[in-house]
Amino acid sequence: MPKKYFIETFGCQMNDLDSEKIAGNLLHNGMAPADGPEQADIIVLNTCSVRDKAVQKVYTRLGELKQLASRRKDLVVAVVGCMAQLEGEKILKRAPYVNVLAGPQKGAVMSDLIEQGRREHPAIGLRSDEIPESLETQYILRQNPWRASVTISEGCNRNCSFCIVPITRGQERTRKSTDILREIKDLASKGYIEIFLLGQTVNSYMDRVEQVSFAGLLRRIAAIQGIKRIRFTSPHPNDFTDELLEAMVVCPQICNQIHLPVQSGSTRILRAMRRGYSLESYLKIISKIQSASRSIAISTDIIVGFPSETEEDFQDTLSLLDEVQYDSVFSFKYSPRPYTAAFNLLDDVSDEEKKGRLEIVQKRQKMIQIRKNSTYLGLRLEVLVEDKARSRVSLAGRTSDNKIVNFDGPEKLIGQIIQVEIAGFSPNSLKGIWIDSSV
Ligand code: SAH
Ligand code: F3S
Repeated sequence: MPKKYFIETFGCQMNDLDSEKIAGNLLHNGMAPADGPEQADIIVLNTCSVRDKAVQKVYTRLGELKQLASRRKDLVVAVVGCMAQLEGEKILKRAPYVNVLAGPQKGAVMSDLIEQGRREHPAIGLRSDEIPESLETQYILRQNPWRASVTISEGCNRNCSFCIVPITRGQERTRKSTDILREIKDLASKGYIEIFLLGQTVNSYMDRVEQVSFAGLLRRIAAIQGIKRIRFTSPHPNDFTDELLEAMVVCPQICNQIHLPVQSGSTRILRAMRRGYSLESYLKIISKIQSASRSIAISTDIIVGFPSETEEDFQDTLSLLDEVQYDSVFSFKYSPRPYTAAFNLLDDVSDEEKKGRLEIVQKRQKMIQIRKNSTYLGLRLEVLVEDKARSRVSLAGRTSDNKIVNFDGPEKLIGQIIQVEIAGFSPNSLKGIWIDSSV
């Protein structure tokens, strides 16, 4: 009987892809997926450390696994990814039944670590000098048969003062454009229609040997037969070029949506965050995007309560929301991260104040989204059907500009691009009527 594994993923899209790489490696080495943690011989927690809450979530999960581990002496528990890299052997003190600790770039050697962890408890793969040079992954067990995430770079060379990512994922390394394009051609031949390009500062991508920029890479992907949608995350404002905007305007395969994290609307706070741009220079980019001949939806990330953020700084962030009219906003309370530059600053905005500011941001943005989404009424749009909907209606899909559309239709539409007419809206989604072209 093959040993069975169960992977639980926390955090971002990059972690989702890392879990697919881990699953690919385990499957290739003779293991098989389990239906749940109770049925598994190996439980892998693929973790996040971007905020303290993410770290605590893993400790809570480890607490829940304690009983299972004490009942099943042969169970292998592996804690991998960013939180494992950050917390290191502290995890073993709190959860001595953990058999494997590994950083985020260990997917390709996961089965070796697990075997080692089973024999000589614990196996530790946290050394950054052991990170493989190459970003090529032989085996990826993809969860979705029409949308594939593809790594184009790993790590980050920026040092935003609040951010743990350069510490857990290391300096930026990029893949060769030829390798990326070969992988995507292969995915297209297998029926994948949507490609999601991933990198921490995805648009800083440059293949110096082949002289392929990020925009050049996008155009080459758009030319691959069968690829209908291309998305990417996350671009950094300072690497946003006219060439990239031009590619987005002329290639309909590149979705008309961009996530452009701003973090704050106050130039003083942006400087303290070491983001590398001022409010004015960020707004110049936004205005270029908004005046492009193709309409492009814009989303962002906001941090409230960064050290020394005053009421006035916070009001600048609200004014920014009003000015840009984002399609969606991910907002977070500042969470001090060890080893970052901002960790040495006094975390002087109280948790209550942070909570209050977060609520105000979310309320303000909700009104903007209600107004924005109302303008979709009556439009006919293309939707890639993704899943059964959570609510009453039966299916959910996404428009090119990343709006979620719920509608009634048969399940066989999942994975197809169809037409809908928009008949309703809420702050976070649209309601559509499927236009059945076969009748
Ligand atoms: N460039 C990365 C950013 C990763 S972190 C990307 O690909 O998305 C994602 C978001 O988490 C950041 O944009 C920021 O808004 C938020 N974040 C990062 N560190 C944080 C911290 N210490 N406290 C609160 N939010 C944080
Ligand atoms: Fe983090 Fe800033 Fe890089 S948010 S991932 S250090 S661009």
